[in-house]
Amino acid sequence: MDKNLALELARVTEAAALACAQLTGRGLPEAADDAAVEAMRAAFDHVSIKGTIVIGEGELDEAPMLYIGEEVGAWGPEDPEFDIALDPLEGTNLCAMGRAGALAVVAAGRRGALHHAPEMYMEKIAVGPQAAGVIDLQRSPTENLRAIAEVTQRPLHDLTAVILDRGRHNDLIREVRDAGARIRLIPDGDVHAAIATAWPDTGVDVLFGIGGAPEGVLAAAALRCLGGDMQGRLIFRNAREEQRARDMGLDDPRAVLTLDRLAGGDVLFVATGVTQGDLLRGVRLTPHGAITHSLVMRSASGTVRFIEAHHNFLRKPNYTPRGIRTRAQHEPA
Ligand code: FBP
Repeated sequence: MDKNLALELARVTEAAALACAQLTGRGLPEAADDAAVEAMRAAFDHVSIKGTIVIGEGELDEAPMLYIGEEVGAWGPEDPEFDIALDPLEGTNLCAMGRAGALAVVAAGRRGALHHAPEMYMEKIAVGPQAAGVIDLQRSPTENLRAIAEVTQRPLHDLTAVILDRGRHNDLIREVRDAGARIRLIPDGDVHAAIATAWPDTGVDVLFGIGGAPEGVLAAAALRCLGGDMQGRLIFRNAREEQRARDMGLDDPRAVLTLDRLAGGDVLFVATGVTQGDLLRGVRLTPHGAITHSLVMRSASGTVRFIEAHHNFLRKPNYTPRGIRTRAQHEPA
């Protein structure tokens, strides 16, 4: 896969992060999401690919921009075709509340590489490289914790599981604590949490629980680049959701999806921090622009690259996402 594409896509996540960062902590989740979507959509017009969105903002009737099936990029006859998974603002409420861990995210792979997960829930388990190959969603959380403890040669009571703080996880939380592990409960953002399991100094070893299916595919692309592991299984709240999954071409919608099924082949993953997090710094405004911090990874090479970009909005007025004002513009004349 084109090495330069990863860097081009970093501009796309930077644009989304810059746009919604202006709304951080203002209690306006929809406005923050809209700003990120609009900026990401515009930034794709400068990327030389024929991209088809397989994970996006929803179906065409639900989302005016970045919807599933939309073609993005500025392609010519020679430009390569890619499937694109994206979330312009992963952790909308985190951004609106000024909490840690909001990201702008894009993953890309050749046609068919990324699972076409519908807008529904997915049960997930994710781990870093040290525990790759030993997790199994068909087994209980206790059995998985024992397997992780054994392969990492650590006592089970040293392990920390990260779980979304939701009522649906009450039994899971009880079981993990009874098994002897610690829990870090998070308010939102299980893509960030899944990646954190593969990061040595974040202090989390495994992600358990039910979150968004699209976020599951994005997390899988990241873990594929990092050498981690993940499994997912779609969860249906009603028969209509299950039928929708079948309509999207899933023969066995309740099957456990391995990392290869979620994000196979050669994939790349790019994220820019919106708010401060364990992995990435959030957007910081400067007098005439802003500083962004991005993570760029390719599964083929396994290289993990951080990009700190200093944006000067005075020099690129056409690129600057609409609505962004520099700190100097905020100050009274
Ligand atoms: P959004 O940014 O789309 O709001 O997603 C945030 C998130 O916390 C995801 O990280 C997670 O997968 C999902 O929501 C969980 O869904 P719910 O809030 O319905 O439990």
